[in-house]
Amino acid sequence: MTNPKRYLITSALPYANGPKHIGHLAGAYLPADVYARYLRAQKKEVVYVCGSDEHGAAITIQAIKEKTTPKEIVDKYHALLESNMRDLGISFDIYHRTSAEIHHETAQEFFTALNDKGLLEVKESEQLYDEEAKTFLADRYIIGTCPVCGNDSAYGDQCEKCGTSLSPEQLINPKSTLSGNPPAKKKTTHWYLPLNKHEDFLRQWILEEHQSDWKTNVLGQCKSWLDSGLQPRAVTRDLDWGVKVPVAGADGKVLYVWFDAPIGYISATKQWALDNNKDWKPYWEDKDTKLVHFIGKDNIVFHCIIFPVMLKLHGNILPDNVPSNEFMNLEGDKMSTSRGWSIEMDEYINDFVKKENGGDMMVDALRYYLTAIAPETKDSEFTWKGFQDALNSELVAIFGNFVNRTFVLMHKLCKGKVPPIHLDITDEADKKIFEDIRAAKETVEKNIEGYKFRDALFEVIDLARKGNKYMQDKEPWIVAKQVGEDGQPTPEAQKKIDNALHVCLQLTANLSILINPFLPFTAKKMCSMMKVVDKMLEWENAGKDKLLSVGYSLRAPELLFRKMEDAEVEAQIEKLKTKTKKLMDNASNQQGNNKGEETKTLKPIIQFDDFAKIDLKTGTIVSAEKVEKADKLLKLEVDLGFEKRTIVSGIALHYEPSAIIGQKVVVVTNLAPRKMRGIESNGMILMAEDANGKLKFISADELTTNGSSVS
Ligand code: MF3
Ligand code: ZN
Repeated sequence: MTNPKRYLITSALPYANGPKHIGHLAGAYLPADVYARYLRAQKKEVVYVCGSDEHGAAITIQAIKEKTTPKEIVDKYHALLESNMRDLGISFDIYHRTSAEIHHETAQEFFTALNDKGLLEVKESEQLYDEEAKTFLADRYIIGTCPVCGNDSAYGDQCEKCGTSLSPEQLINPKSTLSGNPPAKKKTTHWYLPLNKHEDFLRQWILEEHQSDWKTNVLGQCKSWLDSGLQPRAVTRDLDWGVKVPVAGADGKVLYVWFDAPIGYISATKQWALDNNKDWKPYWEDKDTKLVHFIGKDNIVFHCIIFPVMLKLHGNILPDNVPSNEFMNLEGDKMSTSRGWSIEMDEYINDFVKKENGGDMMVDALRYYLTAIAPETKDSEFTWKGFQDALNSELVAIFGNFVNRTFVLMHKLCKGKVPPIHLDITDEADKKIFEDIRAAKETVEKNIEGYKFRDALFEVIDLARKGNKYMQDKEPWIVAKQVGEDGQPTPEAQKKIDNALHVCLQLTANLSILINPFLPFTAKKMCSMMKVVDKMLEWENAGKDKLLSVGYSLRAPELLFRKMEDAEVEAQIEKLKTKTKKLMDNASNQQGNNKGEETKTLKPIIQFDDFAKIDLKTGTIVSAEKVEKADKLLKLEVDLGFEKRTIVSGIALHYEPSAIIGQKVVVVTNLAPRKMRGIESNGMILMAEDANGKLKFISADELTTNGSSVS
């Protein structure tokens, strides 16, 4: 969309069910913030909205876990999320919440509008029901084994391990999360959004109109949804927490959280307009508004398929783009708050920002690294070593170093003032720097507007690198040694020094404008050093060669960044390991307790013939490797003497692959093959749990030969 009248930017509303980690930050908040800051610097009309997603089973289940009420949960985490995001410089124009009255009204009006026009379908069906807890079991109230990856704690709506979106009936061995019982079935009535009726519109809109400007990962997911055929989707639930279904007789029913949450973008815009004496309507109704949704990849279907259908039926504008990111892993494994394998925003803030030698510079350091490794086209990986390298050898050594040297030398060799540029001796190198600035500005623009924030940031650092090279070539500190009788640099020498530092200072001013969307605290600090007001950071100033006037006296340099020490890296890695171990130990202790009861309830008696059907043989593990994106699974090669077998086993949390090579095992060899994460598993390895919940091999004696029968 060229030349929109206004921009409406959204970041996925985080569930207020717990702290959020830096993977979330990198996926949906930081890029949106960079984009919003950039557009504001361009003096565009921009509103950037977000807020807490406070409904759905994610909240009520957390309330059960913390033995409190949903209301307490959302109040606590809404406050935490808002303050974390603000601390990290995320510049929402409003951070709203879906428990607000204006949201409930907006969502109900939206539903009623569609329902009154006959655009929803009402159907009675049988749904899973917990007899003991007397509730229907939708979404997260039901867990079972994922049919795709074998994860045994997949939810009724989605497997969080492999990202597949599921319906409760697809789960293997489903269980109620409330009572632990297998579910019964019961009739109930719900409203459905008939997505199947809008397939043609979606195909046309996504795959034709947006095929060249949407990211390929987004188009790919949309295409596979469309190709597998869309089904009517229930937009109501039997639950007592959420937005009440505004229809007489629908007691005990609320809107499905994924129906009300995106409407949260609209209600947030309304609240922002009320607070700022503005009109919200053009933002959602005028075709000249450019609407951009920033999300993580697990939200693609909701923002590209379901919400657009809702918007279209309701008469709203559609998003111009949905620049979704992939996932960010951490130190070789998937980030997960529940497993403790994560860096929560709150933790980072406490460990680095609110520390004596931290502050805003460590916010910008994080923003830098997360942008530099943003999972824009594929999953990426955060490592503390990588963070340290990026901070020490890019931010400190290139950007910080250039600015610092420029200021130190200007104070030393130019009396703390912006020196004049002597046109009679300017040379190619001087001109080249200004050309480089203008070229960098253009590249940054092109990349930010194309949602390529990594490339845009790289360009800014590269410009600082060119500044260092320029300074190194000009070496004003050496030129300063050409002194006259008075011990001062000769007039010729001083002219050269003046020119070099004049150029470096103008470049510094330009760098502050270009870095501002990414590292706003740094840009502000630079403005204060240059004694200029923030207005200088307006984008149209980038590329100018006279941002700082000659003779203007500047402040002393301030430290822009600090190095990260090896000890800090080690401490963080140690912390991560301890945290995850503690959580896993707790989890297996709890399991251990339950298991005690389980052993008492023996399975029913079977006949010898049934047992004889099982073919057990001894073998040796000859190779083992992790299965990508499945943190519990190992792919094993087992030598059975007569052949080698591939077996996928759920023991990755208990054993390092390298530690089990050569392990003697007992294998069920005639189990029907099963595909897990695309790998066919041909058999099962027998394991037993020890007192701490660790899985141990049921091992054959070292001397048995591979392939001998176990009986
Ligand atoms: N709460 C959802 C999640 O964390 C995202 C909601 S995005 C919205 O995955 F569009 F529905 F708001
Ligand atoms: Zn799965």
